[in-house]
Amino acid sequence: MEIFWELHKDLSREGPGNEASTHKALAMAKSLPTKVRVLDLGCGPGAQTISLAKVLNGDIIALDLHEPFLEQLKTRAQEEGLSSRIHARKADMAALEFEPASFDLIWSEGAIYNMGFKRGLDEWRRYLKPGGYIAVSELCWLRKDPPEELAAYWASDYPAMKDIAANLAIIAGLGYELVGHFTLPQECWRDEYYRPLGKRIAALRVAHSGDEEALSVLDLCQQEIDLYERYSGYFGYEFFVMKFLA
Ligand SMILES: C[S@@+](CC[C@H](N)C(=O)[O-])C[C@H]1O[C@@H](n2cnc3c(N)ncnc32)[C@H](O)[C@@H]1O
Repeated sequence: MEIFWELHKDLSREGPGNEASTHKALAMAKSLPTKVRVLDLGCGPGAQTISLAKVLNGDIIALDLHEPFLEQLKTRAQEEGLSSRIHARKADMAALEFEPASFDLIWSEGAIYNMGFKRGLDEWRRYLKPGGYIAVSELCWLRKDPPEELAAYWASDYPAMKDIAANLAIIAGLGYELVGHFTLPQECWRDEYYRPLGKRIAALRVAHSGDEEALSVLDLCQQEIDLYERYSGYFGYEFFVMKFLA
């Protein structure tokens, strides 16, 4: 596990995304109040938290289980002069303890998979005010004919992964109004996530040469990057933005 955290320490993002995509999804939430109360679930080091805080007026509670990510977010918030409006908290997204109907917007980039797409959307809506919005990005199949190698990889790594239509059916079944969805562009993967991760893998290979266990963790991570390079048209992150009608 130590090598896992070395691999992920101090990266600017912990999953695919970028500021333009965060702002594009936010623009779909058209009737937010002027002063908003936001909950960012699985915030990681907080790239999207900062992007949201820059353009929203109001407070953001950003929650994650991993303390070093929260410390990273606090430092970033300070550097950006946003500390008074970003509140980083260690808590479990699957056991929230907020007042019901207390947020205008719930955000979760690349993190709802930890609970499951349906369960997350089902349980989190009780914390939304009527008319509030929820925006999540989720790994989806973009094509129905993945090569065997790719299907086997994700069957082992994320067996619950569905296609966009199946996730839209879940959204409708839970009574949300879908206000929009889009696939994250490939630069969100390459420039923002895999390039820095690839550099880290290369550096750690040198630092851990001869340590078979550490090297096998690095190999697995490199395998994920290589699969994306070969098969990026088959899967991607889809941003879904929904309105809670109560
Ligand atoms: C793939 S990362 C995405 C982080 C961030 N949103 C980003 O895009 O950079 C998923 C995050 O979920 C957090 N996480 C996992 N399980 C969690 C839980 N039960 N409650 C809160 N956070 C959790 C992890 O620590 C990690 O920061």
